[in-house]
Amino acid sequence: MKKTVLITGASSGFGLLLANKLHGQGFNVIGTSREPEKYQGKVPFKLLRLDVSDDHSVKTFTEELFQHTKQLDVLVNNAGYMVTGIAEETSIEVGRQQFETNFWGTIKVTNALLPHFRKKKSGQVITVSSIVGLIGPPNLSYYTASKHAVEGYFKSLRFELDQFNIKVSMVEPVWFKTNLAHNAVSSTGGGIGDYDGYRKQVNAATQKGIDEAEAPDAVIKKIAQMIDTVDPKFSNPVGKMTGMFLFLQSYAPKMFEGSILKSDKTAK
Ligand SMILES: NC(=O)c1ccc[n+]([C@@H]2O[C@H](COP(=O)([O-])OP(=O)(O)OC[C@H]3O[C@@H](n4cnc5c(N)ncnc54)[C@H](OP(=O)(O)O)[C@@H]3O)[C@@H](O)[C@H]2O)c1
Repeated sequence: MKKTVLITGASSGFGLLLANKLHGQGFNVIGTSREPEKYQGKVPFKLLRLDVSDDHSVKTFTEELFQHTKQLDVLVNNAGYMVTGIAEETSIEVGRQQFETNFWGTIKVTNALLPHFRKKKSGQVITVSSIVGLIGPPNLSYYTASKHAVEGYFKSLRFELDQFNIKVSMVEPVWFKTNLAHNAVSSTGGGIGDYDGYRKQVNAATQKGIDEAEAPDAVIKKIAQMIDTVDPKFSNPVGKMTGMFLFLQSYAPKMFEGSILKSDKTAK
């Protein structure tokens, strides 16, 4: 029997593409959106309402989920968004909201479903982190912090879940063409004159990353492979340059910092 896979944030980007692919392969796919009515009749899989940042929504969603299915095999924590901007110019409230979705939201959904996985002594939790969960570029401090936080959380959690045969993995994509940039929340800048020149540089460098983003196929392929693998790796970076970034960060940190600063300077 094909597995039942839950994908949070399946109305757009990675989540939508993955849901369509797995549905086409015969998996029982359940996706989520904050506004499922917008996509009614437009997606071939079941789409349930979920705002991961809202406790009440997570509770209602969990009850609804088990009305639709008796069994869940895989959770893909994919829902998320990106805050951009100079850190000092970004309000704490904007940063806090970033964590409410990317960090606390991911944990709340995971916690809501772990009792099911523990009871059946099997399950898989795949979390879409980011390459910025492993490295730290400028202009993305809160997004980077939220992705580092999920990386750290699951790095520890996987040991606790091993006894229940629950597999835990991360996916760490670089830039890929989805609606992430369009849906990003940006501190509008300004405010602190000392950053005026630098802000222009880093905004241009961020835009360059977005403009040069790859098509998302490699990420979808990687997650589909992980679902099919008996013993998937914990960390799964995807995309051009990921290997080089991680190698330089560990073994040639000055060169790594130079490569990040250089991309900012060329953006002047
Ligand atoms: N694209 C990239 O280059 C890239 C790189 C690394 C990591 N990522 C990560 O990949 C994941 C998916 O992003 P994407 O690139 O596919 O962007 P996207 O096209 O903007 O899709 C984001 C999805 O997340 C959902 N979402 C956002 N906030 C939510 C909330 N509070 N509660 C529930 N669902 C929420 C959205 O659904 P609704 O609006 O319908 O609720 C949407 O389906 C994110 O975690 C992102 O950080 C993306």
